[in-house]
Amino acid sequence: MDRRPDSARLFGENAAATSACEWCGWRSSRRVGFVPARSTVYVRCVLNETDPRERESDSARPEFWSQRYASGRTPWQLDGIPDHAAAFLARTAPRSKVLIPGCGSDHQVIRAFREAGHDVTAIDFSAVAVEQAKNALGKLRDTVILGDFFSYAFGAIAFDIVYERTFLCSLPPRLWDDYAGRVAQLLRPKGMLVGCFLYGEESDPPPYPLKEDKAAELFCSRFKLVRSEPVSDPLPIFAGMEKWQEWRRY
Ligand SMILES: C[S@@+](CC[C@H](N)C(=O)[O-])C[C@H]1O[C@@H](n2cnc3c(N)ncnc32)[C@H](O)[C@@H]1O
Repeated sequence: MDRRPDSARLFGENAAATSACEWCGWRSSRRVGFVPARSTVYVRCVLNETDPRERESDSARPEFWSQRYASGRTPWQLDGIPDHAAAFLARTAPRSKVLIPGCGSDHQVIRAFREAGHDVTAIDFSAVAVEQAKNALGKLRDTVILGDFFSYAFGAIAFDIVYERTFLCSLPPRLWDDYAGRVAQLLRPKGMLVGCFLYGEESDPPPYPLKEDKAAELFCSRFKLVRSEPVSDPLPIFAGMEKWQEWRRY
């Protein structure tokens, strides 16, 4: 005889145990209350139940990311080129010096910039992500550096373009001003910061989305916004939240 309370029989008490965190994909044993047994439930992982300050330091550490790449739980991965990025490449003269910070294992975008004739440097501080990217890139493996975007010595290179996708929103907000300053430092005057930026609300980050006023505070003293459009082909987890933006350095 089923001795569970009526509510559990009706709604499926183990529903949360079969769902996964919408950001990192980790399965959670946390119960989120009674939900229909066969519904898709998106919950946050156990890591996200820690104090927000601990979580911030987590996502600022390479192990946080390596753990996810090693287990293949990387729901932010697009496995393709955003339409806006393809359009940007089509209208951008070749031989630009391009930097892709927080590239993760996104080898496809690295290859796309290379095939469009650009000189690409990509960097990530997760050894697992870098190894995956290098393995997928074959002869282009040397385009990827294992290092910290904030402290790596890029030498005298002044980049023409910095490409952004899900890197800024992975950083704790306390690092956002450092991000904007570092990008401005690495770009030549009139160089472009381009890519997909996450905007909106998130009650349980990461990711940490921007707000319009925060973006203005971060970027407007260093950059001019020259294009901003909704991303036409976002992943479902980012639907309605991503903007393709192009910021020109002063
Ligand atoms: C959400 S993932 C995005 C990866 C990639 N841009 C993509 O679209 O698939 C964020 C990445 O930023 C990297 N990252 C975070 N902080 C970093 C830092 N200080 N220096 C270099 N990489 C960093 C992480 O290792 C992770 O691969």
